Amino acid sequence: MIELKRLTKVYPDGTQAVKDVTLEVKNGEVCVLLGPSGCGKTTTMKMINRLIPISGGEIYIDGRKNTEMNEDELRRSIGYAIQDIGLFPHMTVGQNIETVPILKHWPKARRTERAEELLELMGMPPKEFIHKYPSELSGGQRQRVGVARCLGADPPLLLMDEPFGAIDPITRVRLQGEFLKIQDILQKTIIFVTHDIYEAIKMGDRIALMNEGQLVQYGNPAELLYKPANEFVEDFVGADRALKGLQLLRIKEIMTSHTPTAKPDEKAEAARARMEQERMDWLPVVDDTGRLVGTFTRPERTEDKTVAEIMSPPPATATVDAVLNEAISLMLSGGLDNLAVVDHDKRLMGMLSFAAIREALARIGQQGADQ
Ligand SMILES: Nc1ncnc2c1ncn2[C@@H]1O[C@H](COP(=O)(O)OP(=O)(O)OP(=O)(O)O)[C@@H](O)[C@H]1O
Ligand SMILES: [Mg+2]
Repeated sequence: MIELKRLTKVYPDGTQAVKDVTLEVKNGEVCVLLGPSGCGKTTTMKMINRLIPISGGEIYIDGRKNTEMNEDELRRSIGYAIQDIGLFPHMTVGQNIETVPILKHWPKARRTERAEELLELMGMPPKEFIHKYPSELSGGQRQRVGVARCLGADPPLLLMDEPFGAIDPITRVRLQGEFLKIQDILQKTIIFVTHDIYEAIKMGDRIALMNEGQLVQYGNPAELLYKPANEFVEDFVGADRALKGLQLLRIKEIMTSHTPTAKPDEKAEAARARMEQERMDWLPVVDDTGRLVGTFTRPERTEDKTVAEIMSPPPATATVDAVLNEAISLMLSGGLDNLAVVDHDKRLMGMLSFAAIREALARIGQQGADQ
């Protein structure tokens, strides 16, 4: 657990960057520091790993005061993705990612394996990138290497300062998704800085909204959206809170997992009868391994054919971890009333309908208002 107690920073020139901030981050949680430029997010972060000295108050990491911990030990146990990336220019991508593993004396083979694994995760083929230098990468690629480096030695605590800020929207959504997926498994304790409310809602178990060095509200995303503490929060959250609420839910939480399907080798007539009985407009066609291989729509004539002979290609799908606004955007652009949901191996996991989305939104709006 990380505890900030009445944390304060006054820079030598008199700037009061952080004022009396108290908050706790539980182990395994993602705490998002959110707020306008200059509100003190980076300053707060850098006091945790002692890149800058504290002016007042204390920081405890698992009950130990960070100023009483060995400084090198402290930094090695905390992964840090710096806002302006900060890769070492004279070192290759691989060497950058291996920085902390080297300090921790990991054997060479394990380090290389780790660097490759992390590059893969960031969508940067290791063969192509591991030997490049930072100057040979685009800004977004550099930033992804920065994130990989922060995860390098698998630290329990991560400080990430706008880690996806320089990455294009499509890659960013993918990386956010990947990140949440790893977080589900690894359960790291993470402090994540952003000034993007959408990103905060999507990534944060809790959001600390700051303004002019002060903590204005600390709560879960639904509380910020539906129970803003004051006018500043209300303005920051914006009028379209219903839309933002879409990010609070992942598809897997509201999809129907028992969905009628068709098999490629069955008679089209049988599939059509099932479709009518279930009142569906179409059926997903699923092979023996559970993978989605096609779309079965109402046939003109079945003429004793099999499903495989008359099915069309699989529809647009969403993965179980995607959030609702991504699902809705797919449904609207594809003109779909029902969206097929798949896992990362393209196996059909369920279906999502507009009706289910409507019900879920009404529910979270109600919960937020009740809190
Ligand atoms: N070394 C410094 N000396 C004096 N003032 C500083 C210093 N570093 C930051 N500040 C000031 O402290 C305040 C908080 O800065 P900080 O970098 O923490 O903001 P931030 O919330 O991370 O902003 P951004 O979203 O733009 O990154 C700002 O007013 C900034 O100008
Ligand atoms: Mg900053």
